[in-house]
Amino acid sequence: MAISFGAKLWLLHVLLSFVGPVFAGNFYRDVDITWGDGRASVADGGQVLALSLDKFSGSGFQSKDEYQFGRIDVQLKLVPGNSAGTVATLYMSSQGADHDEIDFEFLGNLTGEPYTLHTNVFAQGKGNREQQFHLWFDPAADFHTYSIVWNPQHIIFSVDGTPIRDFKNHEAAGVPFPTSQPMRVYGSLWDAEDWATQGGRVKTDWSQAPFAVSYKNYNADACVPSSSSSSSCGAASSSISWYNQELDSAEQGRMKWVQDNYMIYDYCKDVERFPQGMPAECSLP
Ligand SMILES: *[C@@H]1O[C@H](CO)[C@@H](O)[C@H](O)[C@H]1NC(C)=O
Repeated sequence: MAISFGAKLWLLHVLLSFVGPVFAGNFYRDVDITWGDGRASVADGGQVLALSLDKFSGSGFQSKDEYQFGRIDVQLKLVPGNSAGTVATLYMSSQGADHDEIDFEFLGNLTGEPYTLHTNVFAQGKGNREQQFHLWFDPAADFHTYSIVWNPQHIIFSVDGTPIRDFKNHEAAGVPFPTSQPMRVYGSLWDAEDWATQGGRVKTDWSQAPFAVSYKNYNADACVPSSSSSSSCGAASSSISWYNQELDSAEQGRMKWVQDNYMIYDYCKDVERFPQGMPAECSLP
């Protein structure tokens, strides 16, 4: 039986509309490669984005949309072997001087030594809220999921679904919190041998270059304030699960396990750094 071309197109359309949600994010559709002069590339129908770094340049991408609150999930597979001096990032940032920023940075290390996962939150241009972790797995051996939930009350950083940090809105106590500036998602791979690894003592081994990091399954379930469609959220926000998300007691328990066992730096414990007194949020629940 012959099927007309029109019927085939219709069938294709029906099939695609079923398959669609499985490939929720797509690097072709959702991001722009912004620097690196050919060192970044998208493959596998938009599911994978690879960044590379050599002596001359790193590379990076940014989301096409700006988001104001959202849940971002991306899988990363980091530089294997001797990654000392390299830094891979996944972060959100607004533009301008008093910018807001939510950071995951992966600081490379010598072969067999652990990566450091560095996190920070900037609000109205001010950061200085670093927490650093080692991971309970080798982040270069396989893909793992790194997530940011940013809602009006919390910034929750998670690794493979395990929360590692919950930065709360303490604006009522005078602590700035990002709420009013839309942010883009960024990813990059660059050289920071001056400070990244073991305090800058271990430099990049360029004989290992080019270094490569893969990003997979980009998913931004987020509000796009510039859009007039449903993704602008607005009145619908209260029905979105991440919008009111906070950690339940089981998640708080898992976060405590990570912080007790894998946290290697916490600005709230760095008394010498703040002789004028600790930041206000450090003594708030
Ligand atoms: C590298 O390994 C050293 C030694 O295990 C560790 O102290 C450090 O936190 C690791 N990470 C970086 C980025 O230096």
